[in-house]
Amino acid sequence: MVRKAKLEPADALVLFGATGDLAKKKLFPALYSMALNDSLHCAVFGVASTKWDHEQFVAHAFDGIKAVFPDPDEKILAELDKEFSLIIGSYEDAKLYEDIAKALKDKKNPVIYLAIPPSAFSNVTKGLAAVGLTERIRLVVEKPFGRDLKSAINLQDELEEVLSEDRIFRIDHYLGKESVEDILVFRFANSIWEPLWNRRYINSVQITMAENFGVEGRGGFYDGVGAIRDVLQNHLLQVLALIAMEPPADLSSNIMEDEKLKVFRAIAPLKADEVIRGQYVGYLDETGVAPGSKTETYAAAVLRVDNWRWSGVPFYLRTGKNLSETTLEVIIEFKHPPRMLFGETQSGAPNLLRFRLGKNDGVDIELQAKSPGDHLSTEPVKLTVNFSAALGDRQEAYERLLRAAMAGDHMRFTRIDSVLETWRIVEDVINNEPHLLPYFKGSWGPEAAEELTPDGWLAL
Ligand code: BG6
Repeated sequence: MVRKAKLEPADALVLFGATGDLAKKKLFPALYSMALNDSLHCAVFGVASTKWDHEQFVAHAFDGIKAVFPDPDEKILAELDKEFSLIIGSYEDAKLYEDIAKALKDKKNPVIYLAIPPSAFSNVTKGLAAVGLTERIRLVVEKPFGRDLKSAINLQDELEEVLSEDRIFRIDHYLGKESVEDILVFRFANSIWEPLWNRRYINSVQITMAENFGVEGRGGFYDGVGAIRDVLQNHLLQVLALIAMEPPADLSSNIMEDEKLKVFRAIAPLKADEVIRGQYVGYLDETGVAPGSKTETYAAAVLRVDNWRWSGVPFYLRTGKNLSETTLEVIIEFKHPPRMLFGETQSGAPNLLRFRLGKNDGVDIELQAKSPGDHLSTEPVKLTVNFSAALGDRQEAYERLLRAAMAGDHMRFTRIDSVLETWRIVEDVINNEPHLLPYFKGSWGPEAAEELTPDGWLAL
């Protein structure tokens, strides 16, 4: 599968779902930041069915901006006010697409961003095709792409009927995180890791995405999705691929995706006894959640990348809502030295390397050092680097993704063959869901998840 390396820069942005939550919380702040950095050079059309006037629309966008930038630059806001306009209509109504086509009549390379439920994608792409827009747009679609392998294939078939692959930008916003990209730099810009980065020296890899809050008013959306589709199939497997992939020949998006694809292909479909599903007590009382819902708000899994580099190394993945803390991290657990020279006094702790990928991103390495005193005994010490302190502020993922889509660069977007492979990996456990276990808010999920890893989940 090959995509064109680059398209022309965009000259308009059309945001479907402009009155929604994602647009407010992520996309408008990203647009503000782009305007502030002088990298937003086009008109922005919101599209929604909500009958708001211009003032209401702009107030909604500015509320989102002010939640992230409490003291915004008024001049930039005034510029955005001029660039923003709202096109109102039902996604099922042909007139909406005629209005959009009219608004875009002088635009050669508009970007259409679908911040709407996947169930609406089909109507929207058909509507855009009917007015001849699909020949020149590029389409940005949010994850999850489909809800299983079959629906992802169907969705792709529908998109392909009207759009070529190089005009489709599938979002997994983790690929826009600088901290996640740092995994590549850490591995491939330093020579000291590569000799260790394999089954001979690594005992296990643990990837955790935990949130200490619940569905936060998104119960209606989340209940039809669950933790496996919401996070594990996409965010966690993408992070795993960056940890496990071979060095790419270069950084072009196709070469990178080829390497990630090889990792996914080496992973067998998850089986029921390799997955723990949990639901926090109180989830059924959340607004929008169906009575008796069996949707998981927690998922943990062990999977193996069956290739020469990783054969025998377990990769443990877990994610959940309403857990004890909010964290996003990868811990690489190295093997013990071949001889425990310091005998009884040698701390049993293996060397650990942690990528902190969430807020306060950075890297920690746990090593053994000599404890003070007469004895040659050891204790663990931690080497830590905080990237914002060392390197300065990081950009927000959505800003980087919007900029990349508008520049026509696929580098931070998923390719369809990889997406289908990731659905294949989770397919059996989403179709025959393993038993659902309850857990309490503020815990680390169902107790059974502790038994998935022989030494428990690592911390450092
Ligand atoms: C989204 C999920 O993709 O990622 C949310 O739909 C989740 O449920 C969010 O809260 C987490 O993103 P981040 O960037 O805060 O780790």
